[in-house]
Amino acid sequence: MSSAHYQALEPQTSDEDNEDIERRHHQSNSRSCTACATSATTTAHPAHAMVRKGGVARRRCLVPLAAGALFFVAFCYLTLSADTRLALGLGGGAEDSEELSHHGIGKQWSPLMETRPADWLLRYTRHDEPEGEDRAADEEEFQGNLSHRTQEIDDYKWNFKIEEQRSQQIHIRKWHRFKPMIHGMNFRPLNETVHICSESYEDRRQFMQDKPQSEYGQLPVIYFVTPTYPRREQIPELTRLAHTLLHVPRLHWLVADDQEKCNGFMDTLLYRFGIPFTHMVSPMPSKFRNEKPAPRGVANRRAALQWLRQHNLTNGILYFGDDDNTYDLRLFSEIRKTQRVSMFPVGLIADYGVSGPVVRKGKVVAFLDSWVAGRRWPVDMAGFAVSLEYMSQYPYVNMPYKPGYEEDLFLRSIGLQMNLIEPRGNNCTEILVWHTQTKSKKLGMVRLESKYLDDRSNLGALLHNLKLMGVASTTESEGRDALISKNGKEKPHSKILS
Ligand code: UGA
Ligand code: MN
Repeated sequence: MSSAHYQALEPQTSDEDNEDIERRHHQSNSRSCTACATSATTTAHPAHAMVRKGGVARRRCLVPLAAGALFFVAFCYLTLSADTRLALGLGGGAEDSEELSHHGIGKQWSPLMETRPADWLLRYTRHDEPEGEDRAADEEEFQGNLSHRTQEIDDYKWNFKIEEQRSQQIHIRKWHRFKPMIHGMNFRPLNETVHICSESYEDRRQFMQDKPQSEYGQLPVIYFVTPTYPRREQIPELTRLAHTLLHVPRLHWLVADDQEKCNGFMDTLLYRFGIPFTHMVSPMPSKFRNEKPAPRGVANRRAALQWLRQHNLTNGILYFGDDDNTYDLRLFSEIRKTQRVSMFPVGLIADYGVSGPVVRKGKVVAFLDSWVAGRRWPVDMAGFAVSLEYMSQYPYVNMPYKPGYEEDLFLRSIGLQMNLIEPRGNNCTEILVWHTQTKSKKLGMVRLESKYLDDRSNLGALLHNLKLMGVASTTESEGRDALISKNGKEKPHSKILS
């Protein structure tokens, strides 16, 4: 599909477009009203009018009809609920305007978006980006997935009713203009079971940067949420990240692993750093795992959000920091100032090598990102931070399983508005975080007789550790014998290991 075609698939309506549309409606309405009044006069004296105006009068007969139809559409638009409007194909309606879109996803919702704009893959240039036939197959699959959504909506509606009965905050829901059917396409209520593997609230670091820990006591805590998943690069990524975080005072590291079972190796590793942390597991639901693209890091971020909610935290700052990004230490001092929502550019994103806010006179006015696709907040997950005090006012905080739209829909769920955004990084002129990506490879395989995996050499323990870390495995039968050499020459295993 050409890029022009992709563009055609995308919802293109902008706030300015909406204003234009409204203006046009207004003009045409007033025009039809005049026509109405005139035609009312003409119907009172039809014959006379025919004689005087001829063909013009015929056209005038159509005008009241058109005006009536317009009036009907306007009436539906203003009186029906957004859900009904959507069902009737009348669009998102009132939520489209800047002022009213506080919480709804209004105009951006459309059945097309449910299929995900086909160019979502262009968001990030990835090694595994499908091409040609594969890509066409993916797109077909997107369409196919649509039918599964109906059940999802029903489940959601049911959950929503239960929640509504339990909740004492119906007035808050109304105020936030929560639209279950609109949100239902993407939002499941945040009801993840949070399974904690291990945690430590003790900060065992004595010095951070050039000061003793005690001097940082007054700073708000940064809750650094890292979704991670088992693959051979996992431990190295987390180790590298930990060595950045080791310099950051007053930080609680929420490591949320996308797998079923806790991994003892990881618990030990995290504890060893001495940074306060919570290690939890929250696997991606299997129905999403087979989807292409899968919603990466969503189940685990949702679990972290749930953890924050369960702890009733209303003080501190939330930041979503993936395990493979590169963080400048200045980022942390910047986000610690967050009053509501901070934003800043992220380097190495997609085509432009950057994604971030456009700032004028110290205010965020727009965004620079090569993939818009109807996203009101076209930013990367690493490009914003949220104050927990602000977030706690929004009971429907959520992150939907919708690849490419996680940031946007999360930020909508906390009612973000342009004037609330605090530009950071010297008015968004500096890069404080980089979207680095590590090339992923399949598990290593070392062919070695198991009788040599004992303590006669280091290899038994080394390969055992690599297995625990999910980096490499041993085999007795597959592939070539492991190469063991001395003085530049391959040696039989028995010669060195027995
Ligand atoms: C980009 C953004 O930086 C992510 O924040 C965003 O979630 C993601 O796109 C998306 O929208 O899919 P990208 O580098 O393309 O990230 O993706 P990854 O780094 O592979 O995954 C994002 C995070 O989710 C990582 O921390 C990764 O460890 C985690 N992840 C990935 C899982 O937890 N499970 C997976 O199956 C894959
Ligand atoms: Mn990444």
